[in-house]
Amino acid sequence: MSNIKEVKNGHLYFDGCDTVELAKEFGTPIYVYSKTDIVARIDELKECFVAPYPKNRIAYAAKAFCCMGIYKLCENEGISMDVVSGGELFTAMKAKIDPEKLEFNGNNKLPSELAAAIDYGVGRIIVDGEQELDLIEKICEEQEKTTDILIRITPCVEVDTHDYIVTGRKDSKFGLNIDPDVIFPYIKRAIDSKYVRFHGFHYHLGSQLFDNKPMLDAVDVALELMKECRERFGFAPGELNIGGGVGVTYTDEVRMPFSYFYTPILEKIAAWCEKEDYEMPAIICEPGRALVAEAGIQLYTVGMTKNIPGIRRYAAIDGGMSDNIRPALYGSVYGGVVANRVDEPADEIVTICGKCCEGDSDMIIKGGKFASPRSGDIIAVFSTGAYGYSMANNYNRNPIPGVVIVEKGEAEWLIKPQSYEHMTALDLLPEMLK
Ligand code: LLP
Repeated sequence: MSNIKEVKNGHLYFDGCDTVELAKEFGTPIYVYSKTDIVARIDELKECFVAPYPKNRIAYAAKAFCCMGIYKLCENEGISMDVVSGGELFTAMKAKIDPEKLEFNGNNKLPSELAAAIDYGVGRIIVDGEQELDLIEKICEEQEKTTDILIRITPCVEVDTHDYIVTGRKDSKFGLNIDPDVIFPYIKRAIDSKYVRFHGFHYHLGSQLFDNKPMLDAVDVALELMKECRERFGFAPGELNIGGGVGVTYTDEVRMPFSYFYTPILEKIAAWCEKEDYEMPAIICEPGRALVAEAGIQLYTVGMTKNIPGIRRYAAIDGGMSDNIRPALYGSVYGGVVANRVDEPADEIVTICGKCCEGDSDMIIKGGKFASPRSGDIIAVFSTGAYGYSMANNYNRNPIPGVVIVEKGEAEWLIKPQSYEHMTALDLLPEMLK
């Protein structure tokens, strides 16, 4: 177990907190985040990404886990944030985040979302579609403002991951394709615009990546484009955002350190700049999962158990696919323990299933090794900090669980749990149904 996970008196401790006590005090199901782990990941990344090139920026991809508190934590740690919707932007505004620290992504930003971003004064808008520049210019004109942009491209580099989370292909809903007759007229418009300041390019290849080769290949594509820009227009773009995607450990994946990806990328760019007599651009990365996945666990209480001899042993928990959709959506595999009996041998094959009205899709851990779960046991599921809470839903009108942040034995609510009242607050009984 990592140093934020420890075993004491047979209980799982997480960042100094007894998870069994957390379950008692805050209730289950619940998401728990270790502040220590998130800060350590940010520090590790800063050291290889920003320390050698202080112009570089880290923009946490808030889609992985978004709430006011996580924005505040990022701001306190001196990093930027990437938002992808009016809702994520609103959350940042409500947390009083410095708008300069926000980068706004998305393939179909709504006019109202762009208007809010421009009004708020976000640091960068990542322009994603052929028509988006027109829309931004129109809004800037109305608001008598200007804005700073990057242009998102599809570098056409393949990556090895789940098909649903590949984004750098030519056939992608994201970004502009780099065919010269598409990209250069677009860049020229951006350079000439009186409403936008064009700084450079953005791409994101995909998520949960373990090989640095595609990332290095994509850099070549972007650098060529930057050079061509300088040649054609006498304008040398000064920024390159290389997206997120660094993979994490769920069960037996070997997580690579940030430096495995970023050190060779930065060295490659620096060498190219030297050769081409190009001023070193500011490089931006946008990690989501890699900063929060392993910093999060979920705690559940076991209710019913069921043994079908020779077939399967089930332990049903008080949550399921409504608070972690990833096993159903991507076939994601998780591991966990019986948190109140971690010292007992995990020698039984058990399927941890949810309480939602679905069959195989509502299995959080299919056939994991556990110390025979019994009713009342606390199950801890590991590495649930990314895209768990953020993709939670109210299927079966299960309320979305709350989130607790812990640090060195202290615990506080980060997000309160939804109640039945919250879920029904917007329901109406219209006249025609009375
Ligand atoms: N930047 C952009 C433009 C992105 O589209 C994404 C992820 C990221 C950064 C952050 O990627 P990360 O570092 O987290 O891999 N729901 C899926 C993941 C979808 C990722 C979408 N874009 C999952 O649960 O695996």
